[in-house]
Amino acid sequence: MSVLDKIEPTLPSAWYYDADHFRRELEAIWYREWVCVGRLEQVTRPGDYFVAGIGTQRVIVTRDRDDRLRAFHNTCRHRGSTLCTEESGHFANGRIVCPYHTWTYSLDGELLATPFRVDSRGFAALDYPLYPVCATAWGGFIFVNLADEPAQTLAEFLGCEAEELAHWPLAELRSVQQERTRLACNWKLFWENYNECYHCPRIHPELCRVVPVYKEGIMSPKERPDWRASDAPEDDWARVGAGVETWTVDGRSDLPPLAGPDDADRAAGMRFSTFLPSLFVVGHPDYVRSVRVVPCGPESTDLVVDWYLPPDVAGEHADKIEHMLELGRIVVAQDGRVCELNQQGLRSRAHRQGVLVAQEYYLWDFHQWLRRRLCEPQTAEG
Ligand code: FES
Ligand SMILES: [Fe+2]
Repeated sequence: MSVLDKIEPTLPSAWYYDADHFRRELEAIWYREWVCVGRLEQVTRPGDYFVAGIGTQRVIVTRDRDDRLRAFHNTCRHRGSTLCTEESGHFANGRIVCPYHTWTYSLDGELLATPFRVDSRGFAALDYPLYPVCATAWGGFIFVNLADEPAQTLAEFLGCEAEELAHWPLAELRSVQQERTRLACNWKLFWENYNECYHCPRIHPELCRVVPVYKEGIMSPKERPDWRASDAPEDDWARVGAGVETWTVDGRSDLPPLAGPDDADRAAGMRFSTFLPSLFVVGHPDYVRSVRVVPCGPESTDLVVDWYLPPDVAGEHADKIEHMLELGRIVVAQDGRVCELNQQGLRSRAHRQGVLVAQEYYLWDFHQWLRRRLCEPQTAEG
């Protein structure tokens, strides 16, 4: 679809602030889908770990002695204490030790020791391993799935979205900058705003200078009312403007081109891969950026933005990194501001539901995606 050709309503306003509805979305979406929680380089050695939050859940991600990625609920099998109190670190001697009564687990999650425990008949340590969580990686991004039996493999989940970035050497890149922002809005508002460029002319003047089609409030020439299939350039996606090399404030790249992207990728200036509900990755000719979405509450969402380069480039061009970061920072701040304004307005008792305009077709797709998972009726075209 290139535009919506009928009037479609938005989601009910209460879905953006009601605590019961938020819990419903956690159960139906966040605790069932593959969710990106970080990068492999956060756990390079056996015993390295970090703790990721998804809604009310906390997950320990680590590597076992055989270098396999492992994830566990951050909860002790004894009486349920939190295990890790730090956000990241290293398990000394390959042992995960509960801070309460010192039950001690291996990096595989096996219960190894229960110091000071007076023995009781029938107690078998084997019966109390840590609660495992499915974890695997793609392109260096670690995904976990909190379902006991995920409905899809990670490969099935990634599907053809991952192919958008097939030319980019994602696994070899390293984050050179990470910025975390807490937004006072529901997580869905981030994705709604991401899914349209209707707001671009007013909100993103800097980005519109780099991608001229955005000045028209559309994401692709296909959205123009007079567009004909015969007009379609080979690569229809919004392109950077003439003389623009990459997404920076002045459209210049100070960095060497990444190995992988071809002429069409460079002409486009970017490729996006979107993995609802938690991640999008955008590849540019010279760098990659990712944004992770973390739902913290009905009206609270963390964004974790990372910029990536090959490790040698990061070392040799440290003075060019600020230039690479600037446009993304500006755009993230601009989007965050309108997401928060949107959240505040949705609290109005008068506004029960809004309406989508023609170029908000991806936003409609997002709503259908959400409704399917909530087992809610689809709107007419669904
Ligand atoms: S709750 Fe962990 S050892 Fe008691
Ligand atoms: Fe935006």
